[in-house]
Amino acid sequence: MNKKEMRSKLKAVLKKRRYEHSLGVCAEAVRMAELFGADTEKAHIAGLLHDCAKCLTEEQEKEVCKRYSYVPDLMTRLCHPVLHAPLGAVVAEHEYGVTDKEILDAIRYHTVARADMTLLDKIVYVADMTEPGREYDGAERLRSLAHKDIDEAFREALKQSLMHNIKKGSIIHPNSLDAWNSIISDENKRD
Ligand SMILES: [Fe+2]
Ligand SMILES: [Fe+2]
Repeated sequence: MNKKEMRSKLKAVLKKRRYEHSLGVCAEAVRMAELFGADTEKAHIAGLLHDCAKCLTEEQEKEVCKRYSYVPDLMTRLCHPVLHAPLGAVVAEHEYGVTDKEILDAIRYHTVARADMTLLDKIVYVADMTEPGREYDGAERLRSLAHKDIDEAFREALKQSLMHNIKKGSIIHPNSLDAWNSIISDENKRD
């Protein structure tokens, strides 16, 4: 499937706001890929498709899991909002014809992150929080970092997301803690 076909399929399955958010993340991911030296084509596709499973009903989610033999891990089942990310990787692969593992991983980890995030993972994670449609406390600080240093930007984005989830009393997926701990242990090694 080419990018134009991906866009029209996405437009048909996502709510208008979610589709516009996806275009925003796509543009922001491409901008950062150019700035920080990642593959712009992969950033484009990962940004565009990152939320491709976001607007499924619970019934459709179950169907997709069954059809492609995907079994979410326990923590993902306990924290339903994060399911759309790994499910998005499954849908991108089977329904949008994406075979590139780096793109699929960037989609899979755009919500909970993981230890040792790749540059593309970080770009999509940060772009999801800095695209122009997103407004929240701390957005401007994050946008400014996203123009300078991708590691700093990802660290700040993950920190904001962890603090937000703790304040809300939400479950923290162990991948997010692994991501945080891998950043801190790398920093400690450098000291
Ligand atoms: Fe998402
Ligand atoms: Fe998103």
